[in-house]
Parts: sequence; C-alpha cells; structure tokens
Amino acid sequence: MEQVKTFLDDNEIPRQWYNIMADLPTPMKPPLHPGTGQPVTADDLTAIFPMNIIEQEVSTQRWIDIPDDVLQKYLLWRPSPLYRARNFEKLLGCPVQIYYKNEGVSPAGSHKPNAAIPMAYYNKVAGTKRITTETGAGQWGSALSMATQMFGLACRVYMVRVSYEQKPYRRMMMNTWGAECIPSPSNLTQAGRNVLAEHPDSPGSLGIAISEAIEDTVTSKDTKYSLGSVLNHVLLYQSIIGLEAQKQMQKLGLYPDVVMGCCGGGSNFAGIATPYVCDKIHGKQVKIVGAEPTSCPSMTKGPFAYDFGDLAKTTPLLPMYTLGHDYIPAPIHAGGLRYHGMAPIVSHLVRENFIEPRAYDQMKTFDAGVKWARSEGFIPAPETNHVLAAVVDEAMRAKEEGKEKVILFNWSGHGLVDMASYDAYLSGQLQAYELPDEEIQRALLAIKDFPKP
Ligand SMILES: Cc1ncc(COP(=O)(O)O)c(C=O)c1O
Repeated sequence: MEQVKTFLDDNEIPRQWYNIMADLPTPMKPPLHPGTGQPVTADDLTAIFPMNIIEQEVSTQRWIDIPDDVLQKYLLWRPSPLYRARNFEKLLGCPVQIYYKNEGVSPAGSHKPNAAIPMAYYNKVAGTKRITTETGAGQWGSALSMATQMFGLACRVYMVRVSYEQKPYRRMMMNTWGAECIPSPSNLTQAGRNVLAEHPDSPGSLGIAISEAIEDTVTSKDTKYSLGSVLNHVLLYQSIIGLEAQKQMQKLGLYPDVVMGCCGGGSNFAGIATPYVCDKIHGKQVKIVGAEPTSCPSMTKGPFAYDFGDLAKTTPLLPMYTLGHDYIPAPIHAGGLRYHGMAPIVSHLVRENFIEPRAYDQMKTFDAGVKWARSEGFIPAPETNHVLAAVVDEAMRAKEEGKEKVILFNWSGHGLVDMASYDAYLSGQLQAYELPDEEIQRALLAIKDFPKP
C-alpha cells in the first residue's frame, strides 16, 4: 500500500524551539526607538509584553526549552501529521513528490495556536490578567481566544472590519472560547476614532487593529498585548512545525529540494523554513520559497526599510520589507496576508538570499486551492492557497527542467470558516488584483524620512 501519512508519537514531540538568531551569518539590524533613534531596550517593551516574552524576543540562544504546560497543550493536536499529496501529484502530472505538514488539525484550524499557547502561558506565569490582540482573517484571534481560556486569562480581539463582516463564524468561535471580538476601526480607542473620523467606511487593516489593541493595553490595568506574527518570539514558537517535519522526513529517508510556505507576517513560513535555513547556512542545497499576494507584495515590491508595525506609529521601528505603515490593502479574501510589512527575520533572510519570495494573484491561488480540494479533499484557507499556487508553479518548473523534485510545504490551515470567499470565487465575483505602482509610491512617502537600515 502507498504510504500517505507519517506520524510522530506523542513522546517524539520536539522539547525545544529553534531560534535562527543563533545561526545568522550576518547580524540583523536592531529595532529602533522612534523617539531616540536608538536600538530599543527590553525596558521599552515592558508596557506591552511581559519580561519572560521580551527575553525570548531578544534571545540569541539556539535552543529554548518548551515548558511542560505548553507541551501538554500542544499534545492536543501535535505532532501534526506529515502527508504526501499523492492525488494532487497525479493531477499535476509533474515529476514531483509533494509532502505537507497539516497544521489545519489544530482546534482553531491553523498553525496559530502554536504561538498562542506559549504566549498565554508566559503571560499567566508573569501575572497578566487580560490580553488584547488584533486579528485579520480571525485565525489568530480565535487561536488566542482558545489559549487564553486554557490559562484562565481574559481576552479582547480587534478584528479587521472587512473580515469581521466576511467571516462571522470566526467571531462566534472567539465568543465560544470566552473572548470579546470588536470590529476595527472601533470607537473604543483614540486610534480607531481617528480613522473613523477620516474614513467612516474604512474596511480596517491589521495596522489599524494593532494600534487599537496596543492603545487598549497601555490604558488598561493588568493587561498585555500579543502579536500573532512578525516578531522574533512568534517565529520561534512556530519553529516546532519545521522541527517535526525534519523528523518525519528523516523517517521517510528524504530531504526536500524545495521548502515552501505562504507569507502574511511570516510566522508559519518561518516555522517550516527556519530549521531548513539553518541547514542551508551550513552548506545544504535547498531552495526555500515564500509566497505572498500580489495585492500586498511587501517582499517582492516593497523596499527594505525601517517602518512602524502599525498605523498609529506605536510600535518600534522594525527593519523589514514594507509597503508603508499607512498602506490599506485591498479587501481581497486572504485576510491573514493583508499586512504591510514582513517579519524582520524573514526580511533579513530574503536580503541575504536564503529565501526566494514570489507573489501570486488571488485567481491563481483559488484555482490551486479548488484543484487541491477536488483532489486531496481538505479545503484550504485562502491564505494557504498562496503556497498551493507556488507548489503548482514549482511542479511545472520541475516538468520543464525535466528534473525530479521533493517539495515540502506548510499547509497552514483549513478554509471551512472561509467558504464565502470560495463562493465569491466560484460565482465569478473575484478578480485578479495587482497593487498599482502608484499606490506603493504613495504609501512609501510615509517612511521617506525614517532612518535607513
Ligand atoms: C491559515 C493562515 N495561513 C497563513 C496566515 C499568515 O500569517 P503568517 O504569515 O504569520 O503565518 C494566516 C494569518 O492569519 C492564516 O490564518
């Protein structure tokens, strides 16, 4: 019988996260304090994060122990299965073996709980009572709602308004796990009121929702903030995906030629990729590809620059590929990929040529997603469809080159709560969208006087 799934036993779950900061051949530029222009210190971050998380954010230690309480929660769905997509391979008819980590098996339906669980845990240990956050598509908000409930913390989620309207079931999931979910921009914060005064119909953006969540944190008691992507500690927690994948691929006696993921803020991609980037830094031949939308092409069209992580300029200045913090992405359906910047670690690795970015428009991504659903059965999240488009592309290249390839990618989540976007695609209401160059030039004016990395 042809093997489809490769499992790890519970006791084979990795006990440590991998921190790529320990292996970077060239140092990363530091985040800067916007007031002083100097590198931010741990103290600058204490208003929004507990010290145990800040220590991980700045850590250069290669391996970081996963606490037992976190492992116990991870075991609810981890180690996640590694699948071979034999039906999709047959459909494509290319000389490739396609393997994927199915992160859709988590209770919230994506990779996001990998980071939400440790964040809730470390906050609990540090004495936090309440957490605020933002969410795009609702995957992060629902993951954090579940995690905070598990550790007895209150949670408020600011959800990008267009997604709040497109995806009511995500709000219901958050409420079921005991959290509050507020459409952003809202009237609850000054940042939200400022946007509404200028744009009463604003669809919202992750940058606006982050500003609201941070303002809520710094004006409330016993409250901290959690970010679901972009920052070093988030990417660290997601490394469990790649570490498990390496063990599973080893069981099969295989090493991938290509490792791929979709990129919003960069966390699931870094999760599967960084253990392989480490191998690449140490001489292994492996191609590593990150797939982003043409409607929000930070890595493929944005400059590498210092920029804020949010619209109200409350975060430190981060060195990253960015479209400008006041860029409001078109309301395409992959809400989780609508962020103006890319994680500093991923940006650094792109700059150093360890990672190849590619951009796909939503028609191509839904085409790949529907092909996947009709062959492999599982319906992917619209975000995940971006990596599927990249997999199709890579398989076609293998055919053209007449080369056999082993492809490994991260299937970041299922789309069962995103069916309205499939409905729009199947009924011909979606269109290809490429961000016009004028819009990029306009958005970049906002950062023209910032320090250059
Ligand atoms: C299923 C899924 N994949 C990918 C992403 C993109 O986020 P990140 O780049 O941090 O992995 C999201 C974000 O919400 C998501 O829900």
